[in-house]
Amino acid sequence: DRGAYPYYMLKEIDEQPAVLHRIQETYLENPAQPAIGADLLAAMKQADQIYIVGAGTSYHAGLVGKELFERLAQVPTQALVASEFAYADPMLSQHPFFIFLTQSGETADSRQVLVRVKEEWHAPSLTITNVENSTLYREATYQLLLKAGPEIAVASTKAYTAQIAVEAVVAKALGMAKQIANAKQFDLQHQLSLAANAIQAIVDDKEEIKQIAHDNLATTRNAFYIGRGVDYFVALEAALKLKEISYIQAEGFASGELKHGTIALIEDQTPVIALLTQKKTAGHTRSNIQEVQSRGARVLRIASQNLAKPGDEIVIPAISELLIPLISVVPAQLLAYYASLERGYNVDQPRNLAKSVTVE
Ligand code: M6R
Repeated sequence: DRGAYPYYMLKEIDEQPAVLHRIQETYLENPAQPAIGADLLAAMKQADQIYIVGAGTSYHAGLVGKELFERLAQVPTQALVASEFAYADPMLSQHPFFIFLTQSGETADSRQVLVRVKEEWHAPSLTITNVENSTLYREATYQLLLKAGPEIAVASTKAYTAQIAVEAVVAKALGMAKQIANAKQFDLQHQLSLAANAIQAIVDDKEEIKQIAHDNLATTRNAFYIGRGVDYFVALEAALKLKEISYIQAEGFASGELKHGTIALIEDQTPVIALLTQKKTAGHTRSNIQEVQSRGARVLRIASQNLAKPGDEIVIPAISELLIPLISVVPAQLLAYYASLERGYNVDQPRNLAKSVTVE
């Protein structure tokens, strides 16, 4: 029931702080020892490489997961597009471990990979899904739930943030089990609380983002999101949100890669939305902003407080750089929502799309 909300998507965006709290309650009752199950942990400890498989938004959450597993658990990790990996000829490591990210648990492309994992590669697998007893839930060796509550809007929002949070739980648990210093020092419980508060502050202030969407996205034909590192991963997700419900031709780019071709697409007034949340790279992305500005782009900046400069349009609270995608994606979700409304579309039911894609 969407209650007073005009669309499920807005309700689901607003629910994200509560979802993070539910994940804390479910998995972090003892913050030092995330509750993911001893068997799962033992199996993951054997892994010399983790392969995270997903489609669409779930793939984008997997990209962020790669950073989490490599930094907190020190296991080399790859994020893979399910439909590609299903027919690839990969050189797998000696002891691969597969993680399937899927909100619905029914995505045919992801299932296709799971079948190979079981029948061809005989490797252990974990499905992280929102739907208990879904196909991928039943068929994997291990399973964890996202606890996001039903997601009805076709555009995935709270499942993305839940996927990142649960990946962080698993990465922290694995890092602790392996005695990795980074994992011991990473106060996940506290970071998730900070993230929940930060998202709350952003959704409480959504009128501001509505105005930005009105001023910049009401009539444009195309738009770009840019960033580096995890900001690039969020740029991919932000662009997917925008294109699927507003039908604006939107792309996410690695900001340093722009000048190798894509910058040719920048015209007078083309919206370019930059993500600036990583200390190491924010300055470099600001140089790329100047490059597009001098070609006429209309630039919007989403910056974390510690890196923000006067004039940045959207400033978000600063939390751990590893988990900041949990909050930097929220203004992008809202921009997509309001752009779709501005253009008069059905936000929850975009054309040509289904909530769960059960055909290959
Ligand atoms: O249910 P899944 O997470 O496996 O679905 C994967 C994609 O189909 C899904 O994330 C899709 O990209 C969304 N419509 C994006 O908002």
